[in-house]
Amino acid sequence: MERFVINGGIPLKGTVSISGAKNAAVALIAATILCDEPCILENVPQISDITKCMKIMKDMGADIQLKDKNTVYFDTRNINTVAVPYKLAQTMRASSYFLGTLLGRFHEAFVPMPGGCDLGDRPIDQHIKAFRALGAEWDIVNGSNHLKADSLVGNQIYFDFVTVGATMNAIFAAVKAKGMTVIENAAKEPHIVDVANFLNSMGADIRGAGTDVIKIRGVEYLKGTTYATIPDQIEAGTYMVAAAATKGDVVISNVIPKHLESITAKLRKCGVNVKENDDSVHVWVDAPIQKTTIKTMVHPGFPTDMQPQFTTLLTVAEGTSIVTEDIFSNRFRYVTELRKMGADISVDGNGKVAVVQGIKSLKGAAVSAPDLRAGAALVIAGLAAEGTTVVDHIYYIERGYENIDLKLRELGADIHRVNIPEPELEGVQLSV
Ligand code: EPU
Repeated sequence: MERFVINGGIPLKGTVSISGAKNAAVALIAATILCDEPCILENVPQISDITKCMKIMKDMGADIQLKDKNTVYFDTRNINTVAVPYKLAQTMRASSYFLGTLLGRFHEAFVPMPGGCDLGDRPIDQHIKAFRALGAEWDIVNGSNHLKADSLVGNQIYFDFVTVGATMNAIFAAVKAKGMTVIENAAKEPHIVDVANFLNSMGADIRGAGTDVIKIRGVEYLKGTTYATIPDQIEAGTYMVAAAATKGDVVISNVIPKHLESITAKLRKCGVNVKENDDSVHVWVDAPIQKTTIKTMVHPGFPTDMQPQFTTLLTVAEGTSIVTEDIFSNRFRYVTELRKMGADISVDGNGKVAVVQGIKSLKGAAVSAPDLRAGAALVIAGLAAEGTTVVDHIYYIERGYENIDLKLRELGADIHRVNIPEPELEGVQLSV
């Protein structure tokens, strides 16, 4: 199994360029199914979730060609099935987007229950509510979701709570429906706006993306387009926190600073310097990190996908910090791993609130990534810690971070990917 071996304690220094956003790109790729002509996506990150999305679509008959490392040509006119292959789809949450895009184009879809990181229960009831509002019938057949509609007709959709995935799917199903759809209590994340912009560049009529009411007037035809994915807000935030945790001095480039505001504000609260430029942020530390409180919220609140990384920073802050996870029911599984590194964290019985008592320094240990963002958090812990940290299950991290080890090495980190068979790990010197 591949692992990262990190010799910590080196302040990160230099410039890191941020890749295209995973959670935008997975939706943009699925959205190409709605396009009646070929289209091109730029700034597509090379990460495993993207590879899986493209493999699923190739298996369904789409013509997909890599023009260069991050530019991809899609011609989905030859898709010859409405059934998404089971094996790959059940490993990722974004496979749920094929429900909306196949329904929107073919009026029928067979999609396995989506998988993805284990962050607690992740139902799709709001997605189904949206599809039904537009006239589709839903059933479970052999463990897969089956959607079918004679025709899709615009309607009002009111979500019981804010959900990114269901908002995306409602847009996908409505974009070619007859008449007007109004989505209320919509998610406002930057990737929702990105998907609306992509579809509008094909000729769709979507207004209000980025607010909590999105209005979609259905169109019959979507023309080809060339479109660039937005930079990854969470990847950027991860490097900002890594810079802070290692007491470094890093320019994070190719970002939209507005998308990072909640992260920037919290870092400043902790005494970290953040300077916003047009398309970069400069992060540096010249004083001890201070405690703070965090509560994860929907955009523009503090993102749940930054919670593990930020909690890791707070393990070495002065004072006691409180972190409340309000989006997912099981997002503190990494705490057990951080404790192996000396962190002083307790989580309440409901798994919602963590109390983090800052310590002077983390110590290297062998730890295991329980999911994507928690894996990134453990890498940050390893970079900040005294001694050597070995992080395993790094395939989780590779779902969402393009070349993370290479990018960190360019910032001066001592991080290497190794393939250590299980027994040999016992001989690795893990602490100073
Ligand atoms: N929820 C329901 N029913 C639904 C839909 C959602 O109960 O029909 C619940 C979920 O269980 C969760 C909450 O509502 O507790 C929010 O879920 P949401 O639909 O917003 O999240 P998602 O679409 O499943 C996306 C990202 C996640 C990110 C969340 C929140 C993708 C592919 N995934 O998930 O990204 O954490 O939004 O911002 O876009 C990650 O990148 O590491 C990641 C987990």
